Amino acid sequence: MRWAKLGHSIIIGSRDAERAKAKAVELRHAAHAIPIVGHTNAEAAALGEVVVVALPAAGLANTLPDAREACRGKVVVSTVVPLTFGGPRLFTPPAAGSSAEEVQALLPEARVVAAFHHIAAHELAEAEHPIECDLLMCGADTGAKDTVGQLARSMGLRVVDVGPLSNSGPLEGITAVLATVNRRYKLKNSGIKITGL
Ligand SMILES: NC(=O)c1ccc[n+]([C@@H]2O[C@H](COP(=O)([O-])OP(=O)(O)OC[C@H]3O[C@@H](n4cnc5c(N)ncnc54)[C@H](OP(=O)(O)O)[C@@H]3O)[C@@H](O)[C@H]2O)c1
Repeated sequence: MRWAKLGHSIIIGSRDAERAKAKAVELRHAAHAIPIVGHTNAEAAALGEVVVVALPAAGLANTLPDAREACRGKVVVSTVVPLTFGGPRLFTPPAAGSSAEEVQALLPEARVVAAFHHIAAHELAEAEHPIECDLLMCGADTGAKDTVGQLARSMGLRVVDVGPLSNSGPLEGITAVLATVNRRYKLKNSGIKITGL
């Protein structure tokens, strides 16, 4: 919503193209005919210039192989956090170390950046008010991080580069901490800001 309002064309992906088209219509109506369309995940990955992976961690292995060719050389943002609700551990990273590293393994030619884990969906959706949280991101490709940084700054976020993709595990883990803070203090939107910058 925020990127569409800034003039970017947005392509929503889904396992079901009709579901993606219906969501695109809903968002266009909500935000006054901004440029949002819907396709299958693979088509969306092929059409997009920057690809944002916003799937549950359990859905990566069955979704990303179909997008591998389409994502070659592209900036791919992983927002994915490996959380398991209702079990003994909330934070359940995969064998790769983190969901972002699993995304990189499934899309080996993509330029993966891990970002947006600490910003709640409703904060992004309420596009009229500023987001207080910092945008922490990591990845191997400096140009890819520049692109993601521009996209984040365009929605008013302060961007903090936290180094290589191997830091994505700790980044993703912070979300488990924030989710626990939300539950403990009955909040919807605890966030994180880096001091001393
Ligand atoms: N929600 C937040 O506030 C927030 C904040 C930061 C990071 N994240 C992370 O961002 C990711 C997406 O979050 P979300 O809240 O949007 O999750 P979600 O609503 O559970 O899933 C997003 C979409 O993924 C598709 N999907 C669901 N299960 C799937 C599966 N097994 N295989 C393939 N596709 C599947 C569904 O779309 P279709 O049925 O249309 O295919 C669903 O609408 C998660 O990893 C989450 O941890 C979320």
